[in-house]
Amino acid sequence: MPTLAEVRDEPMTADGLVLRRPHPRDAALVHRGTHDPLVREFLQGVVPHPDTAAAERWLTDIPPMLWRTGRAAYFTLQDAETGDAVGWAELVDFDPGYERAEVTVWLLPEHRRLRTAKAALRLACRFGFERIGLRRIDAYAAADNMPSQLTGAAIGFRRAGYRPALFRGSRTHRLHDAVHATLVPEDLC
Ligand SMILES: CC(C)(COP(=O)(O)OP(=O)(O)OC[C@H]1O[C@@H](n2cnc3c(N)ncnc32)[C@H](O)[C@@H]1OP(=O)(O)O)[C@@H](O)C(=O)NCCC(=O)NCCS
Repeated sequence: MPTLAEVRDEPMTADGLVLRRPHPRDAALVHRGTHDPLVREFLQGVVPHPDTAAAERWLTDIPPMLWRTGRAAYFTLQDAETGDAVGWAELVDFDPGYERAEVTVWLLPEHRRLRTAKAALRLACRFGFERIGLRRIDAYAAADNMPSQLTGAAIGFRRAGYRPALFRGSRTHRLHDAVHATLVPEDLC
């Protein structure tokens, strides 16, 4: 199995979406995303960038470093037709053998409720299975985050457990119970 630094990292396209490695020109996306109330509430450790220049500096330094050192694979999601950046995906928390990881996806508000989420999550999982060689991908959605849970279930994630008080939202610092779901390559649809 390749290390993250060795995987083919060219963009992956399907269902009108492109999954590609981020670049500094994605600063507006990252700036907006880290200020979005739902992204901040339903993801842990989201620090809002003060401005796009700060987001650009972060994009220049952090995602390439995390990829190089095998700690996380961050992706920008882009509309295949317009080229607009619409969201973000992450594969994180790789196990030492790189056989499992955790996935997270967010979309900018104007790209929600359009069924883009399924395509986005599917692409991120395909990258994990096809390029990195993962055997399992886990997702943890806040118990009150129905869109996230339904998106996972729609592409083949199976509910694996209920985790009370698993994480604190980045915005309110409220403790969230979470639903653990898991996906193996054979179930991806
Ligand atoms: C999670 C996220 C990517 C889902 O994208 P989305 O575009 O909102 O999802 P969809 O509109 O495709 O909805 C998915 C499902 O949830 C349903 N849904 C949407 N909003 C809902 C709501 N408020 N309550 C209940 N169900 C809802 C949809 O009807 C759809 O179900 P269906 O396919 O059976 O019709 C998006 O909401 C987001 O970016 N949220 C903020 C960040 C986040 O929570 N990320 C996940 C962290 S684990």
